[in-house]
Amino acid sequence: MQHIAVFGATSAIASAFCRLAAARGAVMHLVGRDATALQSLAADLEQRGAERVSTAPADLCETERHSRLVAEVWQALRHPDLVLLAHGSLGSQARCQQDWTTQRDMLNINLISHLSLLTRLAERFEDQRSGCLAAIGSVAGDRGRASNYVYGAAKAGLSCYLGGLQQRLAPAAVRVVDLRLGRVDTPMTSEFDKGLLWSTPERIARSMHRVLRHRSGTVYLPGYWRPLMALIRALPNALVRRLGI
Ligand SMILES: NC(=O)c1ccc[n+]([C@@H]2O[C@H](COP(=O)([O-])OP(=O)(O)OC[C@H]3O[C@@H](n4cnc5c(N)ncnc54)[C@H](OP(=O)(O)O)[C@@H]3O)[C@@H](O)[C@H]2O)c1
Repeated sequence: MQHIAVFGATSAIASAFCRLAAARGAVMHLVGRDATALQSLAADLEQRGAERVSTAPADLCETERHSRLVAEVWQALRHPDLVLLAHGSLGSQARCQQDWTTQRDMLNINLISHLSLLTRLAERFEDQRSGCLAAIGSVAGDRGRASNYVYGAAKAGLSCYLGGLQQRLAPAAVRVVDLRLGRVDTPMTSEFDKGLLWSTPERIARSMHRVLRHRSGTVYLPGYWRPLMALIRALPNALVRRLGI
């Protein structure tokens, strides 16, 4: 994986992933909302060994810009091996419940922006007939829970979409990966108490590097989330409500 594009590149998880790719001499194209953070990430990656890093600042909720942003990936990299979608926002479930506009904004950043990008990226990858298209999903999408069902609904929609894309693009030798992450200690989760099940961006990035080289389909990271979520999905509603999980 030498030619890599990342949307939401300044996220803690994506930045950790980019640092590993840089050390292997990758050519990278980074898209993110914060132009200053994007520039300093690019400079850091070049210092770490990236062959070349280009950047495109963009608010990814502005879907009318997506065709252009995707065209720029192919201009910068010519033949991308991997495009990773890593942007997102956990937001506030309580505020989403009280206010439809807040809820719609959450769905826009966590679902609609992804589907818009994936539509354009799928078309390009189908023509290219190689490469890997990956997006960061979440175990929150595996079962609706009172604490985060708006974010969870967006991630569930994303996972379903990626499942369909995987079937569509397999004959074109394009791998599609749904990276279903558990809890990771990043700015997004800064307000949570951390415990046994938590992981770090660096650990997740190492696993992503390994799986994105050859896997397709749904990958739980860390892997213990697969049996854990199978169990949580199997629990009866009344028990989930009583346990408050
Ligand atoms: N942390 C976890 O426990 C966890 C678990 C499962 C899945 N995930 C997923 O992992 C991915 C990365 O999250 P993270 O944990 O690394 O959190 P993070 O460091 O807070 O990163 C979130 C990124 O999304 C970007 N973003 C938000 N709204 C945007 C917009 N409108 N346009 C462009 N970029 C936007 C943010 O940009 P700004 O810096 O400009 O705000 C930031 O770079 C997300 O998809 C998240 O849902 C995280």
